[in-house]
Amino acid sequence: MKRIVLGVSAGIAAYKSVLLLRLLREAGHHVDVIPTGNVENFVGNATWEALSGNPVTSSVFDAVENVNHVRLGQMADLVMVVPATADLLAKAASGLADDLLTGTLLATRAPIVMAPAMHTEMWQHPATVANVKTLRDRSVRIIEPASGRLTGKDSGPGRLPDPEEIFASVQDLLSEPILAGQKVLITAGGTREPLDPVRFLGNRSSGRQGVALAEAARAAGAEVTLIATHLEVPAPHGVSLVEASSALDLREAVFTHAPGKNVVIMNAAVADFRPATIENSKIKKRDETSAPVIELVRNPDILAELVQARSTTENLPGFIVGFAAETGDEMGTVLGYGRAKLERKGCEMLVVNEVGATLTFGQETNNIQVLFADGTDAVSAAGSKLEVARVVIEQISHATKGHAAQK
Ligand code: CTP
Repeated sequence: MKRIVLGVSAGIAAYKSVLLLRLLREAGHHVDVIPTGNVENFVGNATWEALSGNPVTSSVFDAVENVNHVRLGQMADLVMVVPATADLLAKAASGLADDLLTGTLLATRAPIVMAPAMHTEMWQHPATVANVKTLRDRSVRIIEPASGRLTGKDSGPGRLPDPEEIFASVQDLLSEPILAGQKVLITAGGTREPLDPVRFLGNRSSGRQGVALAEAARAAGAEVTLIATHLEVPAPHGVSLVEASSALDLREAVFTHAPGKNVVIMNAAVADFRPATIENSKIKKRDETSAPVIELVRNPDILAELVQARSTTENLPGFIVGFAAETGDEMGTVLGYGRAKLERKGCEMLVVNEVGATLTFGQETNNIQVLFADGTDAVSAAGSKLEVARVVIEQISHATKGHAAQK
């Protein structure tokens, strides 16, 4: 957990900062929000207080006994200003300190990140350009505004990037580099097994957990290659992206990219079966009543093959992690099935999650148990997919210390 000051200056993009606050909180951080006075025209203090869980004021004259204008900045691990208006940039560049946010910017020694948002003319004005240069020269990290629709009918550079993008761009400042120097291959999403040119057999994996793992691994300092099979969410920034579609494509991609990696995380939901034949043209209704019978054949078990390949092939990852989507039934528990699967697959770690119509697939949150082949006690975690991903990455970091991470 880090302590973050989230400064908000008075632009209409303040509403995106509300979403950023949620992302920071979901990732487990303590956040003190400091809006400038006029922010109340866009988002009220009640919203910031409810979502941050901390009191919120713009004034240096509230809670004076805490000396907030110095204390919040001194305690912070990171100070962000989202959105940063032209006026705020000018004040920060000049070292003015006439409210709680600008005072905090002077008092802090933590890294400062600002995400400017304003109309294109204001962003390109020589005064703003000079202020941005001054701030950058003082090591303030300025996130380039995006191009696109602005408040009125105009469009151009000046738009605040999406909260997810801003969140991703500060991950390196929020995480310990526990996987620094490690090369990690992650598969995410769900495979599609073609039936004909337009149809496929698929599954309900959205790729959210795999993307969160890639984000958490990259934030932990790893060099990440993400093999994406049909993600419903954008791939994170700062990872090398490889696309695959069917289980056979995925197998090829995994065996191409696994050599030289230290860790592989097989998070993709791989179809166990595929249609025996792929029709060249769309399957048609031949008459009024009959329906085709589709013959399926087994797909390779990529994870098990990769584990086995290590006995004959040099340079494959020494630490392989599987994911098990399990449901309990009258024959056994989720955990029992997980332990049996860990043994069957032969990998070093298995992350078990319970799936069902309303659990895991496509949801924002997840419940997991991490099982280890070496007999270490299982670790459980619950929370947002990013929180869960961070636990998995911590466990991998822990387990690979002392483990010959690359054979
Ligand atoms: N997996 C794989 N190749 C397959 C099937 C699964 O590599 N053909 C990997 C998944 O990426 C995951 C792990 O194996 O890391 C477990 O996936 P899961 O679907 O739970 O296991 P299955 O082996 O398919 O077992 P089950 O019979 O329970 O479906």
